Amino acid sequence: MPKIVRGPGTYLFPLPVVLVSCGEGERANLITLSWVGTVCSSPPSIGIAIRPERHSHALIRELGEFVVNLPTAEQARQVDYCGRVSGKDADKWAECCFTKAPAAQVRVPLVAECPVNIECRVRQVVPVGSHDLFIGEVVAAHFDEAILDEDGRVDYARLAPFFYTGRDYWRLGEVLAPVGFSRK
Ligand SMILES: Cc1cc2nc3c(=O)[nH]c(=O)nc-3n(C[C@H](O)[C@H](O)[C@H](O)COP(=O)(O)O)c2cc1C
Repeated sequence: MPKIVRGPGTYLFPLPVVLVSCGEGERANLITLSWVGTVCSSPPSIGIAIRPERHSHALIRELGEFVVNLPTAEQARQVDYCGRVSGKDADKWAECCFTKAPAAQVRVPLVAECPVNIECRVRQVVPVGSHDLFIGEVVAAHFDEAILDEDGRVDYARLAPFFYTGRDYWRLGEVLAPVGFSRK
């Protein structure tokens, strides 16, 4: 099958879509991010890449903490909004009817309406180019009981996350096979 060769670009997909809360008190803000990934298991760490010109960039730099809130497909409109409007110009919490809830280990508030909230403390900031990569160690996480199964594991069908392709948002599809199925 013939293939078209393209030059450098960000071609990895699908991408997660998360709502990151940052800052504290009245200054707390929300930013939608897709340049996000798990980067280490021990210590458990998440990397988030943010352009220095974002309002949230200064807030995270200043406090050295952030919270990764996992939204559901039903919250896609608010998530899109938080990725199109700056906290310099609007109170995104109020505009999206999101509630600030206290975190366990950090000063940044959680988004109460998101079913999973992962508290992170910044351990490294790596300037990469257009974006700075903040590597945050996970210090606590909150799970809505409604998305957990009988064994306390996340039921992804109940969580109903969504993803980004660089163009559109997509819902989670069906289970293909359990991990390790190739060796059974
Ligand atoms: C789906 C989506 C993903 C985004 N991912 C990123 C990202 O990974 N890094 C980034 O710097 N901006 C990203 N943005 C843009 C910011 O969310 C946007 O510029 C936001 O308005 C910045 O808010 P702030 O100025 O309040 O920090 C994304 C936007 C959308 C809609």
